[in-house]
Amino acid sequence: MKKRILEVLLCPSCLPEEHGLDPRIIKEEKDDILEGVLSCLHCGREYAIQNGIAFLDPGSPQKVPDKVSKYEAAPVVSSYLWSHYGDLLKDENASAAYQAWSEQMGILSGFALDAGSAVGRFTFELSRKSDFAIGIDNSISFIRTARELMLRREKEFELLQEGLVTQKKTVTMPEGWKSQNTEFLVADAQRLPFKSGSFSSLASLNLVDKLPEPLVHLKEMNRVAKPRQSQFLFSDPFSWSDEVTGPGNWLGGTHEGPYSGDGVKNVMEILSGRKNGLGSQWNIERMGHVWWKIRTHQNHYELIRSCFIKANR
Ligand SMILES: C[S@@+](CC[C@H](N)C(=O)[O-])C[C@H]1O[C@@H](n2cnc3c(N)ncnc32)[C@H](O)[C@@H]1O
Repeated sequence: MKKRILEVLLCPSCLPEEHGLDPRIIKEEKDDILEGVLSCLHCGREYAIQNGIAFLDPGSPQKVPDKVSKYEAAPVVSSYLWSHYGDLLKDENASAAYQAWSEQMGILSGFALDAGSAVGRFTFELSRKSDFAIGIDNSISFIRTARELMLRREKEFELLQEGLVTQKKTVTMPEGWKSQNTEFLVADAQRLPFKSGSFSSLASLNLVDKLPEPLVHLKEMNRVAKPRQSQFLFSDPFSWSDEVTGPGNWLGGTHEGPYSGDGVKNVMEILSGRKNGLGSQWNIERMGHVWWKIRTHQNHYELIRSCFIKANR
């Protein structure tokens, strides 16, 4: 974990109280902490840094999850590497989704946050538009993969063709991408381990419908965003599922309740302060959609219409 981000970290277990973390460095290399412990002097909780990865999800790794997330499995990591970097692999079927989302973001100095970063594409996009970009995800496999790409600037992986047959592929980062201004952490998008007002650029892409507490996530993004001169890109296909959380927590897709109807309209109203929730207002700059693709094997793709809202304040 790069030392530079120590200034914005706090203890996610103590939220909504904000208490900083005290670093104990066991092994370091230049500005990177390879082994160490981040301690909360208020609650006593300790967060490990192992092989350069900081574990700041209060539910992990101390607690063994009831079921392992599908986002930890090797075929899903491979599938997301294709989804994020298919254009760099010059795959004729790759989607241009991440370039389209990236075009929505302006250049703004300060820290940028990509919540639910998976294998890191949008975090790298944000590193070109800010001073320093942080990707967080609660999948250890995704964060390990993103960090590997960040450190080595290339990543080899097996891409499934059909049945048991795979093909070796190598993602190579283009020269202009600044991996020295990027970091990835294991953290929970509903308990962000960051001080209020730390970020000038924020993104939550295809995440809100995967969370048990979607509204809490929006409140957290709002909390860690700068009160002024900040931008927020939100995008989601609103694929609500009661395997993730009950309809009472959904921000759309129900017949009644405060968030009945279309999720994108409700999120727009939450951000603009017209629906209860955040306690602060964002200006809605633009709304639209991006076609996003996930690949299972060479003849099987999922085409997803992700509705975006670009806001600023
Ligand atoms: C559908 S994927 C989208 C990934 C990426 N944002 C994109 O658009 O390509 C959802 C991501 O959210 C992550 N995720 C799920 N629950 C999370 C949580 N509570 N905190 C942080 N990340 C989470 C998953 O591991 C996965 O990487």
